[in-house]
Amino acid sequence: MKTTKDFLQMKRSGEKITMITTYDYPSAKLSEKAGVDMILVGDSLGMVQLGYTSTVYVTMDDMVIHTKAVKRGAPNTFIVADMPFATYHGSNESALRQALRLYQEAGAHAVKVEGPDVMEKIQLFTETGIPVVAHLGLTPQQIGILGAYKVQGKEWTEAQKLIEDAKNCEKSGAFSLVLECVPRQLTKWIANELSIPVIGIGAGVDADGQVLVYHDLIGYGVDRLAKFVKPYGNVQGEIVKAIKTYVQDVKSVQFPEERHTYTMKEEVIDQLYG
Ligand code: KIV
Ligand code: NA
Repeated sequence: MKTTKDFLQMKRSGEKITMITTYDYPSAKLSEKAGVDMILVGDSLGMVQLGYTSTVYVTMDDMVIHTKAVKRGAPNTFIVADMPFATYHGSNESALRQALRLYQEAGAHAVKVEGPDVMEKIQLFTETGIPVVAHLGLTPQQIGILGAYKVQGKEWTEAQKLIEDAKNCEKSGAFSLVLECVPRQLTKWIANELSIPVIGIGAGVDADGQVLVYHDLIGYGVDRLAKFVKPYGNVQGEIVKAIKTYVQDVKSVQFPEERHTYTMKEEVIDQLYG
């Protein structure tokens, strides 16, 4: 299993870091088999897996259940778990208790926190010994304030602020930074400026690594893809085809066949039917 040190080394040597979100046992198992460097149990769970309209409805209990399932599926992969909405904005004491649910109870190797206003918490968790991934740019937990999911840091003052925030994440102890939906030129600047790896999503090719949402990447139950997603598969086509065939087979009495069926000894059949 790769560690935080390996990710720093990968940045230094120019090897891109691959990350994918997963939320359950089979997705984790297949992602580990495919050889990703890092798994994110993202709170995108709420949208792609649980069907909510935003991530703000995801609870710590949800994250613990799903992180544990991912651990069982990918026991040899570095797992980052998202701290869900409003679980790390209170007192240090309550924030730390919440982080420990993911790190200690669920067994995540790191936690991820969104936004520029949580530097104190990044420092607290890191000092405690919990590796932290920061997340800047588009921060979906702020959707109520932002109003829409859109590119961040396009204007000069916004870009300047993002650069400062990114530096502060590193100073506060984050071992990696996720940048979501920012112009590629800004990503390149920040990745050069920081010594910790920058993992991009909708942030261009110059990040030190990339992350995509599992369902988007394999084409599983999603109707609309953001501009930054490349669908590498279309498993939903296969799934619907399989289920349709099953429905037809049952209706037309083609399934189950003899080879899917249990039987009894002749003498018992005779007794039963006389
Ligand atoms: O929850 C998530 O999937 C994420 C990634 C988009 C980085 O935070
Ligand atoms: Na997230």
